[in-house]
Amino acid sequence: MTTTHAENHDDAGSPDVLRVRDLRTSFATEDGLVTAVDGVSFHVARGEILGIVGESGCGKSVTAESVMRLLDEDTTDYDGSVTFDGTTELLELTEDQMRPYRGSRLGMIFQDPMSSLNPVYTIGNQLIEAIRTHTRLTKQQAADKALQMLQITGIPEPELRLRQYPHQLSGGQRQRVVIAMAMCCEPDLLIADEPTTALDVTTQAQILRLIDDLRCNYDTGTMFITHDLGVVAEICDRVIVMYLGQVIEDTDVHTLFDEPAHPYTRGLLASTPSLETDNSKDLPIIPGAVPTLTQVPDGCRFAARCPFAIDECTRATPELRPHQRPGSHTAAGDHLVRCIRAEEIPDLLSTGDEQEDTDD
Ligand SMILES: Nc1ncnc2c1ncn2[C@@H]1O[C@H](COP(=O)(O)OP(=O)(O)O)[C@@H](O)[C@H]1O
Ligand SMILES: [Mg+2]
Repeated sequence: MTTTHAENHDDAGSPDVLRVRDLRTSFATEDGLVTAVDGVSFHVARGEILGIVGESGCGKSVTAESVMRLLDEDTTDYDGSVTFDGTTELLELTEDQMRPYRGSRLGMIFQDPMSSLNPVYTIGNQLIEAIRTHTRLTKQQAADKALQMLQITGIPEPELRLRQYPHQLSGGQRQRVVIAMAMCCEPDLLIADEPTTALDVTTQAQILRLIDDLRCNYDTGTMFITHDLGVVAEICDRVIVMYLGQVIEDTDVHTLFDEPAHPYTRGLLASTPSLETDNSKDLPIIPGAVPTLTQVPDGCRFAARCPFAIDECTRATPELRPHQRPGSHTAAGDHLVRCIRAEEIPDLLSTGDEQEDTDD
């Protein structure tokens, strides 16, 4: 490989490989229309890893599946805009127009590698098929590429793996195969949805390193979905935090950990034991339950669980707005928060107001 993918595209004017604006994804269900993703905006630059974090059910996977257009279009309604590579409006493509993007310019890795592998074909056959579907390589060239990609993933005995079937591999080896498959066409955008959640800690660390190496070598923009803040600290450049279908905080990874602004983010961080320990379990934690999508509360969606909530919080949905704190090293436009009290909270914490609220 002598050129990176970025050099293959004339894209100097547009660093963002993906721009999502006000995405709304709703499902027709027996209980009526539910909006699982409600006005989500973010962007992913080339070579950048954007983390998408939040508790189970907050809409992370639906966001990814909306970008890839993987949801059943008979029961799904999309609104907003998903712009790929500065020009292509993915939500407006027909299924026939969309198909060539998947597996070539848009790569995807899921939590369960078996969902991307066919049990009845060898690893070699599946990799070669994936490569030949999206390139003009001959069978022999594709076979060479398949081996090369497996070698890059660090899988032991790559030649042997090509002849094996998925069930003959460990979970970590299968995930490496899926990563090889996702990366073999050098995608511009990689969407990784909890790719290490099912793996042991050591394998998880190796897979994270692999994804990090690949974005450096191919300049791939990556949407990295996880409920695990330890993983975020390890691999992400920027982060959006989601709560019940909305983005509640958007900032760079250092600010997220050093100066979290939203009470929900603070709660998540407080409940993450240590970045060095095993965080593979679901986020525990903040008292109270997430409201259901059929009973979305008025005002701030987190208010019922928030130690800082006041009456005003339940009146109107707070905007996702620039957050500014005196002495902060982050430019206001680079840190967004959906909380009307974000600036007051550090003072409230230092005067112990949080405790008084719950006194009676
Ligand atoms: N096809 C669907 N039909 C109806 N509701 C769905 C569908 N897919 C997901 N949901 C709901 O959307 C919400 C967000 O789900 P999801 O994006 O999978 O959450 P997570 O953040 O855990 O990935 C959940 O309440 C889920 O039940
Ligand atoms: Mg999910």
